[in-house]
Amino acid sequence: NWTTGNILEEQVERIRKQVGDARVICGLSGGVDSAVAAALVQRAVGDQLTCVFVDHGLLREGEAEQVERDFVAATGVKLYVANEQERFLSALAGVSDPETKRKIIGREFIRAFEEAELAIIAEAAAHGEKIKFLVQGTLYPDVVESGGGEGAANIKSHHNVGGLPEDLQFELVEPLRALFKDEVRAVGAQLGLPQEIVGRQPFPGPGLGIRIVGEVTKERLDLLRKADAIARAELTAAGLDNEVWQMPVVLLADVRSVGVMGDGRTYGHPIVLRPVSSEDAMTADWSRLPYELLARISNRITNEVEGVNRVVLDVTSKPPGTIEWE
Ligand code: XMP
Repeated sequence: NWTTGNILEEQVERIRKQVGDARVICGLSGGVDSAVAAALVQRAVGDQLTCVFVDHGLLREGEAEQVERDFVAATGVKLYVANEQERFLSALAGVSDPETKRKIIGREFIRAFEEAELAIIAEAAAHGEKIKFLVQGTLYPDVVESGGGEGAANIKSHHNVGGLPEDLQFELVEPLRALFKDEVRAVGAQLGLPQEIVGRQPFPGPGLGIRIVGEVTKERLDLLRKADAIARAELTAAGLDNEVWQMPVVLLADVRSVGVMGDGRTYGHPIVLRPVSSEDAMTADWSRLPYELLARISNRITNEVEGVNRVVLDVTSKPPGTIEWE
């Protein structure tokens, strides 16, 4: 029976005990979990922590800036940024299969992260110090779904749990391992993180790469980012952020349908809205969003996003559907 207050105090104490005066490294994904994990460790051991942000170019509109600017401002954390958009695009070129995409993104992420690590290790060595610990923002449901829990099947290769390098030379610090998402948000708010980060919907590690059904290209990413930003802005404007657990916006890049715009025929791609309600992402139901809101999102996306001529709503629960399409 934890309250937020004693979760925070207890984790800060634990981290201090585990880490001592060693140096720590933490990857920031842009999501709430890694942000809260990093902020907890920062609270516990201050400048012994260095954060790494690998910008893979698969984030949503505004998210990279929120990490590089707002998170740093709120926590005062030391941040190392690796701009790797080109690397991920070339690694993903020509690939459509969902699990292959996940594996490529996971692999490139680890490589890019390791390169960043080397730079930080070298910097620490120059001060006669060593990096001993790595922070992971693993939550309880991740542990269960990736097969770490009792009798759980491995459904998708989640890259924040299953994708650690085999020759891991760090000890892990996992301050969120026993927590559910709502507890993580409460701790984040208590740590003074901005609402845009704390209130953020869960977002998969492979990012928009698994929300494009088909090959991932720069143009498709830009298109999906626009549609996603519209859907999110309208959901927020309707005051319904707390009614949905998350709302993936998916581009069916391999599908085209006929439409009409003005006097002309169009042949464009559909965008899928996938709003779900859930407690922990292990099961989910599709959210009954107001028709007026759906109409506004649909009108805006089809008018404002070139190449999209249809918006469809996913009305499948989990199971049998998963929350993400890939
Ligand atoms: P599914 O699609 O399996 O998703 O119903 C369950 C929850 O997990 C998120 N998700 C991921 N999170 N790395 C993550 O950190 C991943 O590879 C990944 N794949 C899915 C998804 O957004 C949902 O919240």
